Amino acid sequence: MALDIVVSGATGRMGQALDRLIQEAPDLRAIGGIARTDAAADRTDGSGYPSIVDVAEAGDLLRRCAVLVDFSAPDQLGRLLDAHADTLKGRALVVGTTGIEADLEARLDGLAEAAAVLSAPNFSVGVNLLIGLVERAARVLPAGLYDVEIVEAHHARKEDAPSGTALALGRAVADARGVALDQVRRDGRSGRPGARPAGEIGLHALRGGDVVGEHKVHFIAARERLVLGHAAQSRDLFAEGALVAARWVSGREPGRYTMAQALGLDG
Ligand SMILES: NC(=O)c1ccc[n+]([C@@H]2O[C@H](COP(=O)([O-])OP(=O)(O)OC[C@H]3O[C@@H](n4cnc5c(N)ncnc54)[C@H](OP(=O)(O)O)[C@@H]3O)[C@@H](O)[C@H]2O)c1
Repeated sequence: MALDIVVSGATGRMGQALDRLIQEAPDLRAIGGIARTDAAADRTDGSGYPSIVDVAEAGDLLRRCAVLVDFSAPDQLGRLLDAHADTLKGRALVVGTTGIEADLEARLDGLAEAAAVLSAPNFSVGVNLLIGLVERAARVLPAGLYDVEIVEAHHARKEDAPSGTALALGRAVADARGVALDQVRRDGRSGRPGARPAGEIGLHALRGGDVVGEHKVHFIAARERLVLGHAAQSRDLFAEGALVAARWVSGREPGRYTMAQALGLDG
């Protein structure tokens, strides 16, 4: 029997990629989509979503789905939780939306007491492997000798910066060094920031064209530089990963799960 999926953000770039891949997967079925505008209902032409509705009308779809996959925007995810947190209990939720602040994160924690919630800033195998490699490098290379600078690039329409993936990479370095990222991060530099303090983690965002997503972590010492990086070549990479996550998280006990767990990379 096919797994019934509802996609929030159905009209977006990721929503459309998910639609195509779900149509190609015999074990999955998109039973509907959620978007934000009144025009949503007119945008099912040529798509596999039988209907695309506003958050306020999504109750029936959510009651019928096994997994909700969310690639929308933080305020839209917040509205969805406001309106349907009770309906989502006992179901599974895959969250790909980035730029989520602490209060929304806390609400996902609350929902995870009654639903299986898998969230990830990046659903690619390569990036999830990269996060582990970066953490390992940061354990070996002392903060006093190796300056870490993270550079990411994305398409011109991306709304948040730095990317959720850059923050995850920064957190991997900070965790390995036993510090909180917020205490040592420096988002860009301009003016006269002065000499770079040891232990700082620099975050830099490039925006332009249709770059799908690139990340490089530089460990810069006096005599060498180690660069670990990843380039996504198609948005389908993230959509495919989100569907791997949907299959994996469906039917699990309530709780928070990671993509590393779904990929078996956490051991
Ligand atoms: N985790 C990952 O691997 C990964 C990969 C790629 C992207 N992402 C994230 O996924 C999210 C969606 O990316 P996308 O490239 O598909 O975006 P997009 O093309 O702009 O699509 C956004 C979708 O969300 C809806 N939406 C609702 N409220 C919105 C708001 N306030 N602002 C913008 N859109 C809103 C839009 O509906 P309307 O059409 O009605 O406006 C549309 O369906 C972003 O947070 C992005 O950073 C994550």
